[in-house]
Parts: sequence; C-alpha cells; structure tokens
Amino acid sequence: MNNNNTIPSKPAVSRRDFLKSTSLAVGAAAVSFPAVLSAQDKQPMNAVIIGMGGRGGGAGKNFLDACKIVGVEGKIVATADIFPEQAARGKQNFQVPEERCFSGFDCHMKALAVPGVNYAIIATPPGFKPPQFKAAVEAGKHVFIEKPVSVDGPGSRIMYAAGELAKQKGLKVAAGTQRRHQAGYIDTIKHIQDGMIGDIVSLRAYWVNGGPIWHRGDNGATAIEKQIRNWYHFIWLSGDHICEQHVHNIDVCNWVMNDHPVKAWGMGARQQLGSKPGEIWDNFAVEFEYPGGVRMASYCGQVKRSWSSVSEFVVGTKGTSNPGGSISVKGGDRWRASLKLESGDAYVQEHVDLIKAILNNTELNETKNVTDSTLTAIMGREAAYSGGAVEWDAILESPFQYGPELLYTDAAKMQYGDFRTLVPPMPSKHDVLKNPPVVQTA
Ligand SMILES: NC(=O)c1ccc[n+]([C@@H]2O[C@H](COP(=O)([O-])OP(=O)(O)OC[C@H]3O[C@@H](n4cnc5c(N)ncnc54)[C@H](O)[C@@H]3O)[C@@H](O)[C@H]2O)c1
Repeated sequence: MNNNNTIPSKPAVSRRDFLKSTSLAVGAAAVSFPAVLSAQDKQPMNAVIIGMGGRGGGAGKNFLDACKIVGVEGKIVATADIFPEQAARGKQNFQVPEERCFSGFDCHMKALAVPGVNYAIIATPPGFKPPQFKAAVEAGKHVFIEKPVSVDGPGSRIMYAAGELAKQKGLKVAAGTQRRHQAGYIDTIKHIQDGMIGDIVSLRAYWVNGGPIWHRGDNGATAIEKQIRNWYHFIWLSGDHICEQHVHNIDVCNWVMNDHPVKAWGMGARQQLGSKPGEIWDNFAVEFEYPGGVRMASYCGQVKRSWSSVSEFVVGTKGTSNPGGSISVKGGDRWRASLKLESGDAYVQEHVDLIKAILNNTELNETKNVTDSTLTAIMGREAAYSGGAVEWDAILESPFQYGPELLYTDAAKMQYGDFRTLVPPMPSKHDVLKNPPVVQTA
C-alpha cells in the first residue's frame, strides 16, 4: 500500500485479474446471500453520513430501512458536512446529538473517529470522495460510496488503491451505481452474459436531455465556498455532467461487457448554461471502444429539448436487449426479467446487500467497478474537451489533477486551517492531457 503522501502510479491489480475475481460475484451478490442470519451475527450497524445533502440524507434513510429488512439494529451516530447548517440536518433528520454533527474541511475525520462507528456513507461531491474514501478505509470502516468516485486519473488511482486496501482488511464496499442492485438489471445482464443474445455487437447509453441542472445562486463568503455550494458546475468538484450523471449508463455497459473501454473520441458543448457561473459543458456525444473492437455510443445532456431518455441498449448477434429488463431474440421471442429481491427499491437494496456482506463476511467490494466506470466517463470527457482520441492507459496514468493538491496527498492534512482561504483551481483548461493548468493554494 502506498504511504499517505503519494498518489499511486498504477492500479494495484490488473484489470482482467480483478474482473475475473469480483465482477460477476458482485453482480450476483444480491441473490446469493443467506436470507436468515443467526442472532450472534447481528452486530449493530453504526453509521456516519459524510455529505449531508440530498443524497446523504436519502442514503441514511435507505440504510435504516435496509437494517429493518435484514433484521439488524442500525443507527446514524454522526454526520459530517463542510457546512455547519448541513451537518446539523443530522440532528433534525436522524436525532444525532449536536456535538456529533461535525463541520469544516476535516469533518469526515472527526466523524470517522466516533467510537463504535463501523459503516460510512459517503455522499459528497465527487472531487472530495477519493481522500474521504481512503480515510474511511484506513479507519477500518465498511463503506457505501455514492457515484461517481473521482474526477481525474490521480483521484481514480487513490480509489483503486484504497479499494485494494479494503479487500486486504476484509472491509466491504458498495457503490451508488444502484442498477447493480436492481432486480431487472441483474436478471437481464445475467441472461446476456449467458449468451441469450449471442455475441455483443454494439451498445448505446443515453442520459439525454435531462433538463437544466440546478444552480444555488451566488451564495458564499469566498470564491471557494461559492464553488462548493454550486459544486456541480466545476470540473474539480463534479467531473462534469458526463461523469456526474451519465456514469450510471456507462456502468451498465461496462457491466454487460464485463470490462471497460480502452479508447474514446467525441464532442460536446456548453449550450444552454449561458452566463451561470461555472465551467462544465451540458452535452456530450462520445464513442467508446472496448477491447476486441465492440463500440458503445454514449449521449448525455442536461439541456431542455422535446424528448428525453435515460436508458441503455445492447445489440447482439442473436438479439437485442434493454438491459434494465427485457430481451428480444431474433425470430420474435421476447423475454422479460422476473427476479425479485428483498427490496423493490435499488437504493435500499444496495444497503441490504452491503449489510449482509458485512454480517456474513461474504465478498462485496464494488470499488473497482465504480472507479472503472467513473474513469471511463473521465476518458470520454477528456476526448470531447480535447477533440482527440484518448486511451485508457493515458487517462489512468495521467498526472494531471483538477483539484487543489491537498485533495490528492493526504486526507489527514485536510484538517489544515479554514477551507475558505483556499484559492479555487478554476477556470481549468480543457486540454488536460497536454496542457494542465497551474493550481494554487493560499
Ligand atoms: N445514485 C444516485 O442515484 C444519486 C442520486 C443523487 C446524488 N447522487 C450522488 O451523491 C453525491 C451528492 O449529491 P447530492 O445531490 O446529495 O448533492 P448535495 O449538494 O445535495 O449534497 C452534497 C453535500 O456535500 C457537502 N459537502 C461538500 N463538500 C464537502 C466536504 N469536503 N466534506 C463534507 N461535506 C461536503 C455539501 O455541503 C452538501 O451538503 C453526488 O456524487 C451525486 O452524484 C447519486
């Protein structure tokens, strides 16, 4: 394992070795655990929520629902958010004592240090996730981490390495790519991988015309505070739209292929964001190529248009599939998914699966899958920004960091001073592989 102050230069395991050992196991995780647990296995789940925004609060409720389904005692014992008023939502929503609603840049370190905590829910902006995930694993916690999990190559390498450390420590990790915990997808992708549509010829992923993205106004005392409140609009925080949202559909395609693409080229634009502060684009069209030459066409946009679709489509030599639930075999037969899970809500099921893996000590570590899909999106984004083709190894090994240095060096050092004194690293140049911008800190 790398020491705290270095960014790993390469992933700790080869892509194919890891896929062989975990990918299928993870897809099947939701259906393979025993339904009934013995009383002595039911140690209480004590969770901290890091990032008490919309999803952090939602994931906290999903966790509590999952504890009821599994039949284990579960509590939210601490909350952490960079902003005090957000951290305080822990008291309102989950009766967390005020002194355990932590705020500031190092809030996650304080929450992770609360005695008895064994479960961390990370739902912060993607740029902060690698050091926070690393800190949670180093502190010995099982983790639920929302997608996407990084915004660049160095952040992704931190994720891969921390995922490996989690495995060595016997810690379980589930990711917020919830389709992997959704019955229709699990059932259908198993049938695709068992050969029902033959060899895969091509794939298509849509997060198209999702409508305009929120902006929270010019709210904050300093430039960095304004950016963090409007994190979606800054690449160092969100990774841009293709990464932030479209990662879901890209992840489904990677799951179907049991691999990640090795090359991308494409285009995009900032069309309807107008004069809103920020630097992200609002639409991308990218073609990805998997090993062996199969291509995935990916389209995403948060613009207002007359139609929209969030979906995936797979074409095989013997048929086609909407991997969310159906297959059409050449000649006319139609197959529909019928698998049922404990929870019909994938947001709850992902916690059911994680809690069961913890209690039964069965394998569940989705770090590699979610990081692969995040880095796939990053590769597509950089291809669109630069106007050229970008290859997997170049983006994986890229030294370019979008965020302030500290995010990539040592989570413990995030305890330094007042985050408001940082100079935010924008506007960024969009030619990341060739022309990295200089990032300054005060
Ligand atoms: N799986 C899904 O379907 C799904 C749905 C919604 C959101 N998400 C993901 O969840 C994450 C959060 O999204 P959201 O909609 O809740 O955003 P949000 O803005 O509502 O919440 C983010 C919270 O993180 C806090 N925060 C910012 N920087 C922090 C730091 N360094 N340390 C601690 N807290 C910090 C913010 O103050 C805010 O309260 C995103 O990555 C998003 O993609 C996933």
